[in-house]
This record gives sequence, structure tokens and C-alpha cells, in this order.
Amino acid sequence: MITTEYTENTEASNNRKKALPLNIGIDQISFYTSQYFLDLKTLAAARGVDPDKYLIGIGQSKMGIPPPDEDVVTMAASAAFPLKEKGALDGVETLLFATESGIDQSKAAGLFVHSLLDLPARCRVVELKQACYSATAALRMAMGLVAMRPQSKVLVIASDVARYELGSPGESTQGCGAVAMTVSADPRLLTIDPEAGFYADDVMDFWRPNYLSEAQVDGKYSTLVYIKALKASWTQYAEESGRSLEDFSRFCYHIPFTRMAAKAHQKLARGISDEDLEKVIGESLIYSREAGNCYAASLYVGLASLLDNAGEDLSGERIGLYSYGSGCVGEFFSGVVQSGYRDALLTEPHQKLLADRTELTFQQYEDIYHYGIPTDGGNHEFPQYRTGPFRFVGIKGHKRIYETA
Ligand code: CAA
Repeated sequence: MITTEYTENTEASNNRKKALPLNIGIDQISFYTSQYFLDLKTLAAARGVDPDKYLIGIGQSKMGIPPPDEDVVTMAASAAFPLKEKGALDGVETLLFATESGIDQSKAAGLFVHSLLDLPARCRVVELKQACYSATAALRMAMGLVAMRPQSKVLVIASDVARYELGSPGESTQGCGAVAMTVSADPRLLTIDPEAGFYADDVMDFWRPNYLSEAQVDGKYSTLVYIKALKASWTQYAEESGRSLEDFSRFCYHIPFTRMAAKAHQKLARGISDEDLEKVIGESLIYSREAGNCYAASLYVGLASLLDNAGEDLSGERIGLYSYGSGCVGEFFSGVVQSGYRDALLTEPHQKLLADRTELTFQQYEDIYHYGIPTDGGNHEFPQYRTGPFRFVGIKGHKRIYETA
């Protein structure tokens, strides 16, 4: 007899529950940004703006600028490369590439990364987009895949270049960078809690039509929508989990500029003192203040910054995370830092990367900005700048050519 009524097979269900790993989350995290930066004091002088507007009002010191031979692919591969060297990519079955700086309408940018990292052919590779939210969607999907096959790993990479029109209000919030994370069962860094609050709305706060290389943004409106989505996500998360702000030791926010994260937390924790604000978010903002907005990677740049720079041992502490992608989708979720996590960090290389960058003059910044990526369909070989382990050599026959530097 055929019945449409669904009846749970209790034995199968119990077996499945037993088989599911309880702890899934981020096992390793690696951050990369370009080898060049523009000091925001230089930008302020050129634009006739009080530097404190950028340093204090926006909360940014420098912005990472990718030279012509660095793009989202080379940054992504460079972020993942230290993980490969550690053997942490062994067992990766899926590569999820989150970006809003897509380089092709059809082919996933992750396939170039798959090749540069020499990952096995038995690997799913796909690209995800929803502005700065897509890395969180990738993390969620990765967790689902690991729940199905607890012995497997997923490599999640977020990589972006934040680019606005020269002289526009958004200019000081540019930047670039990538974060590579492995997601596995029994992770060494952070287990992700099952509870989450999430929110979507069809709004035009920030977008980039296919024919433009700079984002369009309704700046003030975007900050309001960011907060609206945060409040809705947090309320839902708090109801579902029964947790309150006191249950968190630290918070990581999507960081378009560091003052935005500070303002966001002030909205949740009304009346918080400057000292307490600094304690709960300060360490997460250190890398972003130097690299600028990394769009999809930004929240996870904040997570790397927190884990690397926290003065006290965060083992066993719960941290809150807020992901926001314009357009818009927001999600508040949480995770618990694992004991011994410091042994799995790449703190030293991250700090060395930021310290060793080359400063650009204003003229060099404008020259690189105008160089862009040629769209004339011709063959081009790019001038050689400093990059990480990989270079974007040029374009030949409409194909992007990459090499190991
Ligand atoms: N000393 C100290 N502070 C100063 C100052 C000075 N001399 N001069 C100005 N300030 C302060 C201002 O008072 C202001 O502070 P409050 O916000 O607390 O009032 C702050 O500096 C910024 O000044 P303005 O509001 O005048 O700045 P602006 O309008 O020129 O630009 C912006 C701000 C609209 C956010 C612009 O940077 C922008 O468009 N950025 C891109 C969009 C963006 O990042 N949106 C964030 C939410 S959307 C998102 O998160 C997704 C994403 O990644 C893009």
C-alpha cells in the first residue's frame, strides 16, 4: 500500500543521530592580503580631508591594493598555500569559493585555485555569490557536507577586492584580501553552534552591475540596512538559543570599516563603555584596519585577527559572529573556541605579511587603479609586481594565465 504520510523509521533515525559528529567547524584558518598598501593619511592629504576622519571616524589606517598581477584567484591560492604546506588540505573533497569579484560568468574561479594548489581531481569545485555573505553560506554548506561524511574536509575560500570610484565616500573603505579555512569534524579552532538567526531583504544598498568594475553604493543607507539585518538576526538567534550577550566572550562582525563593527555592537549592547567595547571586539579589528574591506572574507579576517591577537586564552569561550552581505542577507551565529587552538594558528606569518608590505605613493595608487584589467579582448602580459606564491601573468586568447611565482 502506498501512503503519503511520512513515518520516521526510529531505528534508522537513531543510527543516523549516533553517526552524526557533534562537533563540526573551522579546523584551520589562513589570511592573505596584497603586498602593497596605501596609507589613509596619504589619501586624506590628496583628497583634502582631515586624516582623523579616516583614522577615527571610519576607523581605518591602511588599505590593501592589489597590483595588476594579483587578483582574487592568486590571493585565494596564496591564502590556502600555507595550509597545503602543513598537509591540512589532505582529504579535501570540496572547494567552495566565495567572492563578489567574479572573473568569469561561467567558470568558477576556484578551478584556477584547484589547479594552482594541485588538489586531487576527485574534488567538487563551485563559486558562491551573495555580496559579503557568501563565505558564511559556504561555511554552512561545508558543515552539511561534513555532517554527511565526517571523515571528509571542505576547503572554504573567500577572496575579494573592494573597489569604489576615486574621490567617492567609499574610496577610503577599499581593500583586498582572502581567507582560506578548512571545515571538518572535531575542528582544532572553532566548533559552530547549530543555532542561527538569519534575515533577507531585497534592497539596493550596494551592488555592482556586470558592466562596472566599481561597486555602486548608497553609503548611509547601507549602514542602516546592516544594522537592521543585525537586529533581526540577533533577536531570532537569541530566541532560538536562549543566550544573551553575556554568554559571549568576544564578537566578530562583518567589517566594511572598523567603526561599522563598533557601531553595530553598540546597537546590541546599548550603553556599553568604550573599555568594554574594546575588550569584546578590539582584537578582531586589528587586521582589517590594515587591509581594508575584504568583502566576503572580512568577517573571517576578523576571526583570524581575534584568534591571533587575543591576549587571553579563549579556549572554551563562546564567540558571536555576524555576517552581512548587501542586497541583503544577514546571519548571526556562534561558535566555541577549542582548547589548544593556539597550536593550530598562523599568527606569525599573518603578522609578517602585514608588516612586510610595500607602501604606495598616491601616484602609484592611482596608476594601479587606472590599469584595471583590460576588457578589449586582446592579449596582455602584466608587469611584474610583488605577489605571494602565485601570479596572474596575463590574458591570452581570452584565457587568464596564472603561474607559480
Ligand atoms: N575626526 C573624527 N571623526 C570624523 C572627522 C574628523 N575630522 N570627520 C568626520 N568624522 C566622522 C563622522 O562624524 C562620521 O562619524 P559617525 O558615523 O559616527 O557620525 C564618520 O567620521 C564618517 O564620516 P561621514 O559619515 O561624513 O562619512 P562619509 O559619508 O563620507 O562616508 C560611508 C561614510 C557612507 C560609510 C562611506 O565610507 C561609504 O560609502 N562606504 C562604503 C559602503 C559601506 O562600507 N557600507 C557599510 C555597510 S554595507 C556593508 O557592510 C557591505 C560592504 O562590505 C560594503
